[in-house]
Amino acid sequence: MAKRKRRPQIDPPPSPPVQRGLVSPMRTVPAAIERPDYALTGVPSDRQARAIRTPDEIDAMRVAGRVAADALIEVGRHIRPGITTEELDRIGHEAMVAAGSYPSTLNYRNYPKSLCTSVNEVVCHGIPDSRKLADGDIVNVDVTAFIGGVHGDTSATFLVGEVDEASMELVRVTREAMHAGIGVTGPEARIYEIGRAIEGVALPLGYSIVREFIGHGIGDQFHTSLQIPHFYEKRNDTVLLPGMTFTVEPMINVGSHRIGMWDDDWTVVTQDLQRSAQFEHTVLITEDGHELLTVPADGVPAEVLFADVRLGVDPTPTASTAD
Ligand code: MF3
Ligand code: CO
Ligand code: CO
Repeated sequence: MAKRKRRPQIDPPPSPPVQRGLVSPMRTVPAAIERPDYALTGVPSDRQARAIRTPDEIDAMRVAGRVAADALIEVGRHIRPGITTEELDRIGHEAMVAAGSYPSTLNYRNYPKSLCTSVNEVVCHGIPDSRKLADGDIVNVDVTAFIGGVHGDTSATFLVGEVDEASMELVRVTREAMHAGIGVTGPEARIYEIGRAIEGVALPLGYSIVREFIGHGIGDQFHTSLQIPHFYEKRNDTVLLPGMTFTVEPMINVGSHRIGMWDDDWTVVTQDLQRSAQFEHTVLITEDGHELLTVPADGVPAEVLFADVRLGVDPTPTASTAD
């Protein structure tokens, strides 16, 4: 990759702040689909999860990861200026249900939707609503599927129409930062190496890294106690071991790392209203390195398929033209 210079100054955000829309009632999931423990109550079990997955769990996680990755791509194919995030939620919900999975976010701690849509200055956990995506928006779609007793969690930031160059660069750097973080994982690596690698990509270019939301262990529980910061923290020196499964999901900001929260108690935004991007994969530590678990059936993940694609302007990619 060509050397990029640190951005000399930060321009005002290219669009006005995101306006919230109306949130439709919760969707239902057919009774035949297996549900996670919190589906009825909204409260996940707080039992301590094992750090190492069994071979059967790992097989199941490849399936859950594939279902989530396929649903994410299906949503991506429908993104264009004018579509509502509510409609993206419906598409993702139906894709996950059609594959026999439960959309993990649905009623997780009472979250009301089947995926998260985080637009522009929204950092994460944006709730799909009646707002239409506007030409020039960026939107992160975060999809988690539960099937076979385990979860798979993946997200990508998509370009809606004619996105400005600064936002395109933010999205590129965030994708590169996620892959840099994943790239250092393997047996005997320490958790802080992940954050150090992400910082190595994002900080020299003048971006900041969100601190309050981090990657997490994942398996039969959506979020386990294993913590994966996206910044260097020396005391996070846990050694990675084969069979561990966790997410790497950096949120990278154009301006300050500081965040705020909407009064819906979910939507996390940058304090300075500058844009934020995010990508996420679920990762398995293997005997000789790592394996991405959130890979779609045809092998080309959303962040590759849709890289630099301005949806609604450029032709929508198909897997066969991506390779
Ligand atoms: N998928 C998100 C993550 O990466 C979590 C969403 S939880 C929700 O961890 F409740 F906000 F949906
Ligand atoms: Co996620
Ligand atoms: Co996650």
